[in-house]
Amino acid sequence: MNFDDPRTRCDHTTAWQRLRAHYESAGRSFDLRAAFAQDAQRFERFSQDAPHVFADLSKNLIDAPTEALLLQLARECGVVAYRDAMFEGRPINNTEQRAVMHWLLRKPAPGHTGQAQAAIDTVAPEIASALHDVHATLEDMLALAERVRADDGITDIVNIGIGGSDLGPAMVVKALDDLRHPGKRLHFISNVDGMELGSLLRQLRPESTLFLIASKTFTTAETMSNAQAARAWFLDQGGSEDARARLPLARHFYALTTNLEAAAQFGITTTLGFWDWVGGRYSLWSAIGLPIAIAVGAPHFRALLAGAHAMDEHFRTAPLESNLPVRLALLDLWYRNFHGFSSRSMAPYSHGLRRLPAYLQQLEMESNGKGVDAHGQPLPYATSAVVWGEPGTNGQHAFFQMIHQGPDTVPVEFIALREPGRDLPDQHPRLVANALAQARALMMGRPEEADGHRRFSGNRPSTFLVLERLDPASLGALIALYEHRVFTSGALWGINSFDQWGVELGKGIAKDLEPRLATGDVQGLDPSSAGLLRRLAA
Ligand code: F6P
Repeated sequence: MNFDDPRTRCDHTTAWQRLRAHYESAGRSFDLRAAFAQDAQRFERFSQDAPHVFADLSKNLIDAPTEALLLQLARECGVVAYRDAMFEGRPINNTEQRAVMHWLLRKPAPGHTGQAQAAIDTVAPEIASALHDVHATLEDMLALAERVRADDGITDIVNIGIGGSDLGPAMVVKALDDLRHPGKRLHFISNVDGMELGSLLRQLRPESTLFLIASKTFTTAETMSNAQAARAWFLDQGGSEDARARLPLARHFYALTTNLEAAAQFGITTTLGFWDWVGGRYSLWSAIGLPIAIAVGAPHFRALLAGAHAMDEHFRTAPLESNLPVRLALLDLWYRNFHGFSSRSMAPYSHGLRRLPAYLQQLEMESNGKGVDAHGQPLPYATSAVVWGEPGTNGQHAFFQMIHQGPDTVPVEFIALREPGRDLPDQHPRLVANALAQARALMMGRPEEADGHRRFSGNRPSTFLVLERLDPASLGALIALYEHRVFTSGALWGINSFDQWGVELGKGIAKDLEPRLATGDVQGLDPSSAGLLRRLAA
């Protein structure tokens, strides 16, 4: 599978040189307050409606000439051709020779009405066939989820997975908690530290527990250790490998994986599969989403997919200048490569979105934390920023001090909901007021204050996203927005955002060190590792 990459690296374009000059002459000294004073339309000009998401970009360090140059950069880099290659199912993950088609998991089934049908009719036969398989698996998964939901005997569902097989489903299940089946408790176990699984197992009974072993490869060490430990606990508590027994393992363990053989060897007979063209961190829409479907049911899972599909269509068809994922990615590049900002703080003013920062850490940093281009050539510029954050208002009482007055500029991304959730809706205006206040304080500052301790320089940038409410469709659109933003910044930087070779080295070394912890053997180790191993050896 050969892929002729249509991209030009960003630093090889004329737009890049022009942006450098523009940054020196105007970008570096840009002042938000002056920009608002000069342009009464700034809010309208720099805000953007996309499916289910409204974005106010006006409190960012950009003006019309900056954005025009950034858009020129996107055109010169070949972002459009690269985006189209993804949607054509070309193997853009060149180091693993795989297509990247998580968007297909959200595409309506053939025979669906209206516009969607027209779009499907034009896809290549291989994609039509993959889409057929996607919907067959989706129907199986939703039917299975409904069976679990209807089974009053099962009260606890334990998802054992890590990385993309944990973060996406865990984040979504928490976000949609208002819609969760009241008789089902969802648990997510990822860490190989036995404390996590052990403390949960003490609260569970085997007959009312269902384990979902979620692993694309079914080889990941952490997941396999936890799965084996759960299996041993289950058998120890009266479970049996015999399918006719009172408590058969096969009824209490399901697998979500592309490795059907390994799941069968584990003794699992109920397996939902998916495909190598679904990257781990893009997999919550596939069988990996089973815990979500169990928690909220089939109609809500379909709404999640529909919201994401609406964002896919926006990304695929909107002109670059009104394409929200593209505008956000260009802003990321402007901050990272010209202003030199090294991190972005996520501030979702929503308890439901409390795991969004962790989810985005994998999505953004595992995708774009790369030092070479897609051809393996070292890059002379920075790539992924560090993504971090906490839900508002907690972050305000922890690290916002540094964001307001510290020497580093940290762009903040606020997310607020117009409608409150189910609980204590009277507190919602206070939550929203805090989000608005922080964004305004960062921009306006209090530069005139004589006392240095109380002085705020202001001119600190932020983006403000608004969702109507935290429902499945809005959440699906929000996640797809981030996926496509990460895609676009990776496209601009010329990297392959879909591999993760950086996790391999440490995995290999851990395998070598584990037996040494028992024997104390430090031969061949560097002095620091040897000293620590002696300290930690049993
Ligand atoms: O962290 C590396 C990684 O391969 C991720 O990309 C992936 O989401 C995670 O491990 C889990 O992998 P698997 O689903 O195969 O267990």
